[in-house]
Amino acid sequence: MKKLLDLISDTMMAAFEKAGYEGELGKVSVSNRPDLCEYQCNGAMAGAKRYKCAPIEIANKVAEALKDSDVFESVEAVMPGFLNLKLNPAFLVNYMAEMSVSDKFGIEPKAPESIVVDYGGPNVAKPLHVGHLRSGVIGESVKRICAYMGNKVIGDIHLGDWGLQMGLVINEIKNREPELVYFKEDYDGEYPSEAPFTVGDLEEIYPFASKKSKEDAEYKAAAMEATFKLQNGERGYRALWHHIMNVSIADMRRNYDNLNVHFDLWNGESSVQDIIPSMVQDMKDKNIAYLSDGAWVIDVKEETDTKEMPPCIVIKSDGASLYNTTDLATIKDRADKYDVSKIIYLTDKRQDLYFEQVFRAARKAGLVSKDVDLVHISFGTVNGADGHAFKTRDGGVPRLENLISEINEMTYKRIQESRQLPEEEARSIAKIVALAAIKYGDLSNQASKDYIFDMEKFTSFEGDTGPYILYTIVRIKSILNKVSAEGFDVENAKFAGCYSAPEKDLMMKLAGFNAMMVNAYEEIAPHKICSYIFDLANTFNRFYHDTHIVAEEDAVKKGNWIALLKLTRDVLETCIDVLGFSAPEKM
Ligand code: ARG
Repeated sequence: MKKLLDLISDTMMAAFEKAGYEGELGKVSVSNRPDLCEYQCNGAMAGAKRYKCAPIEIANKVAEALKDSDVFESVEAVMPGFLNLKLNPAFLVNYMAEMSVSDKFGIEPKAPESIVVDYGGPNVAKPLHVGHLRSGVIGESVKRICAYMGNKVIGDIHLGDWGLQMGLVINEIKNREPELVYFKEDYDGEYPSEAPFTVGDLEEIYPFASKKSKEDAEYKAAAMEATFKLQNGERGYRALWHHIMNVSIADMRRNYDNLNVHFDLWNGESSVQDIIPSMVQDMKDKNIAYLSDGAWVIDVKEETDTKEMPPCIVIKSDGASLYNTTDLATIKDRADKYDVSKIIYLTDKRQDLYFEQVFRAARKAGLVSKDVDLVHISFGTVNGADGHAFKTRDGGVPRLENLISEINEMTYKRIQESRQLPEEEARSIAKIVALAAIKYGDLSNQASKDYIFDMEKFTSFEGDTGPYILYTIVRIKSILNKVSAEGFDVENAKFAGCYSAPEKDLMMKLAGFNAMMVNAYEEIAPHKICSYIFDLANTFNRFYHDTHIVAEEDAVKKGNWIALLKLTRDVLETCIDVLGFSAPEKM
């Protein structure tokens, strides 16, 4: 299906041609004076110069050419030469009917691309904290938007699983339990399948080791030594590493599941270690990487740069590879395995320069072909009410898990404030609503901006919030249930007309879905979906207050409204699904 605005523009262009002018002049835009008209066309103003006449003369002729059009209810030529347009309700009703039976509400399919979304990016052995929220939440939505638009999308968590944090943990375990079989040098038997620690232990071990390594140089050296041994394949260290991975990943999976964030690949920095040596060798052979102060680097400066652009280091002077090397190898791996046309990364904005360097180095080294898009979506910080990075009451970094249970609790209280439900039911509804509160609270902000994590506001059932959107969906569902229970044939309800201004507004909002979704995809901007559904929910609620749906006796009218309700529900539910949350049956 064509986008509504395109259909209107097509009609207008044809009218310009019919009146003897160039069709191009007939571009239509949404009116900036909704009190006067719904759409406007300023083509007569632009045409006046070319045709050497007064703009109003052109506007009048075009309006005349549109006299019998079934697209518009009214076409007014007003001084000095604007064309003010109002849509014909019947045309809109037909558009609704077609939209409601079309796949994806009429979005036109395009050739699918293969896209990798790199998001989440937690480091193994450390608990997830509030800083991990945005990458997971925005990334999940970006992945879903790309998939909704018909692409083949792969979400990859890209774990930090190969760095010093692994050595720190292994070294500390060794200090505490040196007798463990993993540290026996000449051991060549099987290692135990059970990990010698729990996730709770890891959560204590890592911060302890990390703190100590900052105060004690000898301790740090031992941790680095352990990292080196691990990376060079020492059997016992590898076996322990597998335990750390398993225990840590199980915990991460639980946390991400709670956020309705799901990855197709649980790859990490370790996954590409095998391809690093040949990749680096190739860079050296092609003279793309050169020695600088003992390190191998790639120049990535471009003439047009206005900011400092240091070279991208691929091998440090001590011979070790680093974060950059892994990302370069991962690009190569993805290009080779998945025939990607786009890789989208989600990290906070402190990594802006880093990704610029890596992308340039990847292109220079020919790791991906030129037509592959490398995109970094960087996001701002989650702040507390004071405008500074969000902290717990005692000044620590809040754990994601605690944050989620806190917001669950608050939502539960709100639900029980307005109605008394059995405990268990209220708890399960609260979980669904709380997730919408968190995700919408995040996604409704343009990603690049910082935002304030305001639990009171996010969980409110009124205003620009997730719960308000869910509340609107639940309201629609309950009306549909009610009329259905009264025997009305909801299933076969048909669009038949448009009976009021609020109803027309609602239809126009719904018709805007197509253009909005395409735009949110092209700009990789989930916040555009949020602002659309907020607008749609408001428009629906105005219509609802104005219209007595359940009591309506005219079956044709009632059927029309039921069809409109169903379409509104479906569009809203599609949007929240793409954002990564869902609505309960009641709340
Ligand atoms: N583990 C990294 C960090 O904690 C984030 C990974 C982001 N993805 C990537 N391909 N570099 O900063």
